[in-house]
Amino acid sequence: MTDRYAVIGNPISHSKSPLIHKLFAQQTGQDMSYEAIESPLEGFAATIERLRAEGYLGCNVTVPFKFEAYKLCNRLGDRARDAKAVNTLIFRDGEILGANTDGAGLLADIEKNLGIKLMWKDALLLGAGGAAAGVVWPLFNAGLGVDIVNRNLDKAQLLADEFKGSGTVYARRYEELAGKKYDIIINATSSGLDDKLPPLPDGLFKPGALAYDMMYGRETPFMAYARRQGAAVITDGLGMLIEQAAEAFYLWRNVRPDTHPVLEQLRK
Ligand code: ATR
Repeated sequence: MTDRYAVIGNPISHSKSPLIHKLFAQQTGQDMSYEAIESPLEGFAATIERLRAEGYLGCNVTVPFKFEAYKLCNRLGDRARDAKAVNTLIFRDGEILGANTDGAGLLADIEKNLGIKLMWKDALLLGAGGAAAGVVWPLFNAGLGVDIVNRNLDKAQLLADEFKGSGTVYARRYEELAGKKYDIIINATSSGLDDKLPPLPDGLFKPGALAYDMMYGRETPFMAYARRQGAAVITDGLGMLIEQAAEAFYLWRNVRPDTHPVLEQLRK
């Protein structure tokens, strides 16, 4: 019987995950299906129960259910526990196992695909919502100094408080950024959805710096800003999407797909 997987979100119709996992399955010869399922906003737990009852082996979870998924798990991986958010569920022996592969996806995309070493670099993380929460710990663990900037400072402070005493993660206001310089600026805000640019001053990029927009599939105002400001490498989140999918695929199937041909195909 074909093993069944899915991605659950709301909305979900735009998701590229079914195509990515189909390509992974073809490449590695795995007999599996993967579909996109839209869950009602108030019915996430019921959707998961239905999938388990129907014999699905696992699923990915995306906006806005990653925090709810975290609460449903019987067992959690380290990254999921740190982020308090889950993007990958495994249904096994009557239990729900939760993992978060977003951070690993971001790091793999930057280090492997873009060939940029992260250790000791200074990063500016824009935003303090779910997308940002999923990557702060992995950035910290990769040896980066991280400034988290958010319009609502309390949300950034809450994230930064987990690193109190480490001397490497700080919450900032946009007004504090003038005069600072970064090796990497990661946009984890949802501002691109409204075609808005966070209120960033000029001159934030060090020579050779990377601008990374976690939103994929469109040229955002942040990417245009980075171009004007002379960032050396400017990229969107498609590589991260494919890398986090490969991590999830590995957790489910115990096989590592080659992400390069998939990235090339989706870039076309
Ligand atoms: P997600 O799960 O995608 O991160 P979210 O939890 O709603 O979504 O968080 C959205 C983030 O984008 C927040 O950090 C938000 O900033 P505030 O907390 O200050 O509202 C940020 N954001 C959205 N639009 C923005 C804009 N135009 N400029 C700057 N930040 C913006």
